Formats: sequence, C-alpha cells, structure tokens
Amino acid sequence: MMKHTRHLLSTEHLSAQDVLALFRRAQFYLSRLQTHQEFPSLLSGKVILFAFFERSTRTRLSFELAAKKLGATVLQFHTESSSLGKGETFLDTFRTLNAMYIDAIVLRHALSGGAAFLAQTVDTIVINAGDGAHQHPTQALLDAFTLWDQLPQLAGKRLCYVGDITHSRVVRSGIALYRTLNVDVAVCGPPTLIPPMIAEAFNIPVFYRLEEALQWADIVNPLRIQQERIAEGLIPDLKAYFKHYGIQLHHLEQHPDALILHPGPVNWGIELAPEIQQIPQNLILSQVTHGVAIRAALLEWLLSQ
Ligand code: CP
Repeated sequence: MMKHTRHLLSTEHLSAQDVLALFRRAQFYLSRLQTHQEFPSLLSGKVILFAFFERSTRTRLSFELAAKKLGATVLQFHTESSSLGKGETFLDTFRTLNAMYIDAIVLRHALSGGAAFLAQTVDTIVINAGDGAHQHPTQALLDAFTLWDQLPQLAGKRLCYVGDITHSRVVRSGIALYRTLNVDVAVCGPPTLIPPMIAEAFNIPVFYRLEEALQWADIVNPLRIQQERIAEGLIPDLKAYFKHYGIQLHHLEQHPDALILHPGPVNWGIELAPEIQQIPQNLILSQVTHGVAIRAALLEWLLSQ
C-alpha cells in the first residue's frame, strides 16, 4: 500500500493559495446546497470512514452529508460497539481498518496529536476533525469561509476569540489560518483561561476586559465554556462568567457592525445572551451551512485525484 502524504492535520501548512482555492470551490457547493441541486459524484467508489471518539453533531454530520452528496461510501466506526471494548488497541484497530483499503479516515480524538499519530500508522488520507486542545482545522476553514463569503474584504479585519483560550483547539487552528489570510487575531477572557505566554508565542493582543476587546474587534468569536472549569477553580460560576464575558445586546450598541461567530454548541445565557439569536450579525447557523460546503470542497481536494 502507498503511504499518503496528503492529509489535513492542522491549518499550519495550508498556503493562502490552497485556502482561496478551497473557498472558491466551497462557494460552488454552497450555491448547490442552497438551491437544492445535486453535487457532482466526484467521490463515487471512494470509501470514507468516520471515527469519532468524542461527541459531535456539526462536524460529523456535515462531513457525512458532504461525503454522501459527492457519491462516497460512508462507514461509521462506533467506539462503543467496536472491539475496543474487548481490549483491542487504537493501533491494532486502525491497522485492521487500514487493511480494508479505506480511502480516508475522519478522526476526532481527545488526544492532542491523535490525528498525526494515525497518519503515521495508516496508508490512507487522515482528516483531523478535532484532536484534544491542538487543532480543529475544518472549523477554522468554515469560520474563515463564512466571513470571506460575507465580507467584501477579509484581509485586514480583526477577530477576537473570547473565553477558554487554554483548552481551545478552535483558537489554535484559527490563529494559524487567519495569519495566512492576513486577519488579525486577539484573545480575551479571564486570566485563568488564557495561557500566560500566548501573547509572546503568537504575537497577538490579549484582553482581560470584554469591552476593550469589542473596541478592537470587527468580529467576535466566543467559545464554549465547560462546566468542569468551575470544578477546576478556573471560573467562579457561570453567572459571573456571563456578567464579565457574555456578549449581550448592549455591548453591540457601540459596535453595530460587529459580526458574531461561535463554533457551537452554544450555551445561551453564558457565552451569548439569548437575544443574540435574533440579530443579523449572528452568523452561527450560517457557519453550519458553510461547514457542509467547505467540507465538500476539502473532500474533493484530498480525494478526487
Ligand atoms: N464545532 C464543533 O466541532 O461542533 P461539534 O462538536 O458538534 O462537531
């Protein structure tokens, strides 16, 4: 079998040319999706395996939808009913699946570096659908594609992530991709949820006050807050978090053009006030639609040759 070198493990190795080519192709798929037209069967005969070791709604189903629309055969690896429960290792499991001549594996795993490890193990194309706190490259691609499709000029815009920066794979993949696209990135959140060296490591602004971040940003991207951060003592409680870092309508009065992204799932009333659901600057459901289109473009790019 031939070892593939063409994977999507992170956004760090994507050139601006690659990204713009993906966006242009994704625009074609977006238009077909929105007008209920079929996709070309470019992946007919290809087999794509989905192995999600963590929960997912958006990533798994939008990838599956894109793959099926392109004519691929889709297999789901169910961790609970697999032989992992008999003690088979991750390595043996994927060596076994590799022997079935699958064309690509879409992997979500709690281990940072899980997708890179898999790419060294199998001969097939590996697509990282989120690995620990490391990378979620298709989330960054769909976020940037949503903005590129919405704004006449994306380069030069300023985007600020708000929330749990320390544990976020969305931030790490976003910082690398936005840098390639000349979008300025900053982070904002409580000091307990921001790695101390992030400003030096990435040369980005860090805000501890939401109002200052909103003064700076054209686009604000809150992140999901997990309950376990309270037990870990990193935030006092969710009410206090919302008071200091939750985006509310009154914040947007000063910034009526600010766009709002969120990777989902959203904790309404914690990261964002529920009223934000009704305003046109909220692009959260548009991100989901763009996610199907960019994943179709990516599958075509990686698999159709
Ligand atoms: N944004 C994201 O990865 O959502 P899911 O966990 O639902 O896939």
